[in-house]
Amino acid sequence: MQRTRTVENLTYAIGFVVSLVEAAPVPVPEPVDPSEPLPTGVLADIAAGIAAARPLWGAVVHHDTECRRPVRLLATERYEVWVIGWTPGQGVELHDHGGSAGTFVVTSGTLTEVLPRPGAAPVERSLVSGRVRHVPVGAVHDVVNRAAGPATSIHVYSPPLTSMTYYDPDTLEPMLTVPQVPEEPLLVDRAPSFLLHPANRA
Ligand SMILES: [Fe+2]
Repeated sequence: MQRTRTVENLTYAIGFVVSLVEAAPVPVPEPVDPSEPLPTGVLADIAAGIAAARPLWGAVVHHDTECRRPVRLLATERYEVWVIGWTPGQGVELHDHGGSAGTFVVTSGTLTEVLPRPGAAPVERSLVSGRVRHVPVGAVHDVVNRAAGPATSIHVYSPPLTSMTYYDPDTLEPMLTVPQVPEEPLLVDRAPSFLLHPANRA
């Protein structure tokens, strides 16, 4: 008798929970605006993940003393990933990333990020391997290799870059806006998923 009552109570409880679940409103996902940058935490995860997957880019990064030759590795509607090699003395010049947010991580060597301040000396940050930096939409900065040896970094932009504006280092006034023409990303097909598997990492 006691056992029968216990089963009845349990059945009632399960039915009650099921009715609650059925009555709960089904959440409707927010529509995604592809022009909105991904959250900084997501960009940091992407940058760190690609940085750790050295077989993806180790053989294609250029350390060219004549000029920097960034390589576009991946591109989606929401973000793109570049690997950049820097020889000593190479830098970008003061710039922004248009309507894109940026995140970059140094994977070898040491880079210096320069952050201008109106009426004051710029702030400089020395970025060793593993340091992740976020560059919000509209922020102006420069990245320079002031070290004695080469450096490498992984850069994520969200949404993908469409323009960059360069600034006068003295007046901090915009000087030139350069449209960014998308290049075909180097990694296509199934190469990333294969190389990102832990068994295939160096
Ligand atoms: Fe930048």
